[in-house]
Amino acid sequence: MKFYVTTPIYYVNDVPHIGHAYTTISADIIARFKRMCGYKVFFLTGTDEHGKKIEKAAQEKGVTPKELADTTHQRFKELWKRLNISYDKFIRTTDQEHQEAVKYFWLKIKKNIYKSKYKGWYCIPCETFVPSSQIGEQETCPTCGRKLEFLEEESYFLSTSEHKENLRRYIKEHDVIKPDFRRNEILNAIDDLQDISISRPSSRVSWGVRVPDDESQTIYVWFDALINYISAIGYPKPMEFWPADIHIVGKDILKFHSIIWPIMLMSAGLELPKKIFAHGWWKVKGQKMSKSLKNVVDPFELSKVFKEDTVRFFLFREIPFGNDGDFSDELILKRYENDLAKDIGNLFLRVSKFSETNFPDGVRKSGNLNFAEINLSNILDDWIKSMSELDFYSALNLMFQVVSYANRYMDIKAPWKSLKIGNREEAQKIIYDLCYLIKVILYMLYPFCPSTSTEVSEKFGIKIEKSKSEEDLKKDILVGYEIFKVSSTGVLFPKIEG
Ligand code: MSP
Repeated sequence: MKFYVTTPIYYVNDVPHIGHAYTTISADIIARFKRMCGYKVFFLTGTDEHGKKIEKAAQEKGVTPKELADTTHQRFKELWKRLNISYDKFIRTTDQEHQEAVKYFWLKIKKNIYKSKYKGWYCIPCETFVPSSQIGEQETCPTCGRKLEFLEEESYFLSTSEHKENLRRYIKEHDVIKPDFRRNEILNAIDDLQDISISRPSSRVSWGVRVPDDESQTIYVWFDALINYISAIGYPKPMEFWPADIHIVGKDILKFHSIIWPIMLMSAGLELPKKIFAHGWWKVKGQKMSKSLKNVVDPFELSKVFKEDTVRFFLFREIPFGNDGDFSDELILKRYENDLAKDIGNLFLRVSKFSETNFPDGVRKSGNLNFAEINLSNILDDWIKSMSELDFYSALNLMFQVVSYANRYMDIKAPWKSLKIGNREEAQKIIYDLCYLIKVILYMLYPFCPSTSTEVSEKFGIKIEKSKSEEDLKKDILVGYEIFKVSSTGVLFPKIEG
């Protein structure tokens, strides 16, 4: 059982922001979940370092593009460390092997490439050729709204006609595009698809991979970048992990991944990715984040105030993955105080403290586990399904059903009352039940908040182990230990001042 998940590779013109963190955390969540289910996972991320956008940014900063990439890619690595991202490989498009793979790929599909002239619009920030039919008023980009350039230049093109019908069929039959509501937009775009411009004159864009046998042309940065998904896993050598199980991308770059990339792959005779998931965008007070508006959310700043688990949790608790969201400090603080500190942190603290104080040798299993009001088996079936479909919002809601139930259980059963009347056995049974529920919660929490889940598991003597399949994961979660020997978790989510 193998599983290959990728993030887009990020442009190095600027430092990472919360949008980049969002995509990468989502990939980390699914990677961790799949590892729990016993899959051999390969999780790829990296940086997109070529093209006009980077060339221009470097020029403005007075450094070479390579110097800019060398510095900025480090910021991404630092952020992934800070956010506890468990990637297996970080690829840079300036890596020698990648550049070789790009050239090899070009030669492989050469029969589908021809030289002609591109006359039309181009958006540098999006690195996109924009058809005239799509340009906004005042010659602006339909995606980012910025000013376009008019180009009239020689270019190589990749012919698409041969593959359009197959691509349509593949997308429909294999249910490739997720969430479903994005599928039609892609199918319509395939109808309108022209041949794709895949190079630019080196006199205009010099920072990139040269077209083999034609130094006068530089390979289009998206053509170069998309190949990272295979060069990172060994292309042109045999690739254990291809095809990708899922490419996670933002909605703005779905077309590149679900049209251009599959056409490239088909031309090269390679398999197509199994799923492409497009998530929404985080805005701030309804507005796009931008430097000029000074409203860019800096994940480094955020993780100074909140633990990384809070950031990871908030982004997926707040809105369904796939929809747009609105970020604010108030919202994250509210989730921190209510969901993490009050509902989860308090539960762990109350149970662990009570257990440590009254049952220092541990609480033992006695009799049947009997949770009348909650069907854990059904909840876990739904949770595994939601996680597998990247429906993280539902997965967290399911976890909170167990959290609320456990909190109510503690309040209603009130083990301190049993102790007061000398019924230690009853108190022990209640605490055992709660430890069992907490074990379920810790598994469900793990992909989202791995450090908290691991830290608390240790306090409860629980080991989150890898299972052999989804079915086994459920069984392993539901196994009750003979004994839980617990020590206090302390306050996990302290009050944030100021
Ligand atoms: N370099 C290309 C990807 C090439 S993949 C072969 C690129 N890079 S990017 O740095 O501009 O964006 C990377 C990802 O960040 C995209 O998936 C994009 O949707 C995401 N986000 C950028 N801003 C975002 C928000 N404000 N909110 C959520 N995600 C956003 O595109």
